[in-house]
Amino acid sequence: MTRFTRKSIEGAGIGLRTCHYREILGSRPPVAWFEAVADNYLGDGGMPLLHLEQVREHYPMTLHGVGMSLGSTDPLDQAYLRRLGRLIGRIEPAWVSEHLAWISVGGSYLHELLPLPYTQEALEHVAGRISEAQDALGLPLLIENPSSYLVFRGEQMSEPEFLRELVRRTGCGILLDVNNAYVSAMNHGWDPSAYINDLPATAIREIHLAGYEAHENYLFDTHGHRVHPPVWDLYAHAIEVLGPVPTLIEWDTDIPPLETLRDEAGKAQQHLERRRRRAA
Ligand SMILES: [Fe+2]
Repeated sequence: MTRFTRKSIEGAGIGLRTCHYREILGSRPPVAWFEAVADNYLGDGGMPLLHLEQVREHYPMTLHGVGMSLGSTDPLDQAYLRRLGRLIGRIEPAWVSEHLAWISVGGSYLHELLPLPYTQEALEHVAGRISEAQDALGLPLLIENPSSYLVFRGEQMSEPEFLRELVRRTGCGILLDVNNAYVSAMNHGWDPSAYINDLPATAIREIHLAGYEAHENYLFDTHGHRVHPPVWDLYAHAIEVLGPVPTLIEWDTDIPPLETLRDEAGKAQQHLERRRRRAA
C-alpha cells in the first residue's frame, strides 16, 4: 500500500461515499485526500472494504468514526475498538476522529449523536474514556465538536472550555466542524467567532465544512447542502486564526455528484491558498 503520512493530508479533501467509488477508481480525479466513515468498513471482508483499500492505494486518507459513543455511561465496546484497530492497521489512515457525543444507553444504540452536559463530572468521565480508547487503538484521536439543539441546566463550563480540558487531560486533538459551530452558535445565541477564538488552537488538526437546513426557530445540521455563506465567512475567520488547517467537505444526505463535492472542495482550497499567501 502507498504510504501516506500525516504530512500527506493538506488542502481540501472530500468525504468518501459509496456512490462515488466507481468514478473515483475509474478516472482518479484530483482530490487532495478522502475521509471514510470507519463504521462502514468494520467487517473482515466484502466489497466495501475492497473498494476502500483500492481508493486508499491512490489517495491519502483519514478515518472518521460515529460509533464509539465516548459520552455514554455504557462500558466502551471493546469488540468495536478491536475491529476499528484492525481497520486502522489495514488502511493506515493519517488520523482517526470521533465525536464529542453519546449514541448508546443500556446497550441500545440510537443512531443519533446526542449532546453531553458540560460539567466537571462529565469531563472526568469522557476524558477517561478518550484515554481508554486511545490506549486501545495506540494513537491519539481527534474529537469533533457537535452541533446541538439544547443546553443543560447546571453546566459548569462552555463547550470550548470542555474541549480545551479534554486536550489537556488526554493529549487528543480537535476536529473543528465549522458548520456545527455555526449551527450551535445560532441555536444558542453564542458568538461563533468567539467560540473559535476560545478553542485550543494548536490542537486543531482538521476542519469540517457542511451544509445546514434553516427552520423557523433553529438551524438543523443535515449535511445535505452546499456550505452556506455565513459558514464560509466563519471558515475564513477560523483559518485566519488557526492557519491553513486541512479541510474536509462533508456531505451525508442527498449526496450529489462527485463534481459538486469537488467544486465545494475547490472553494475551500482557494481560501486555504489565500491564507497561505498572506502568511508568506
Ligand atoms: Fe463534521
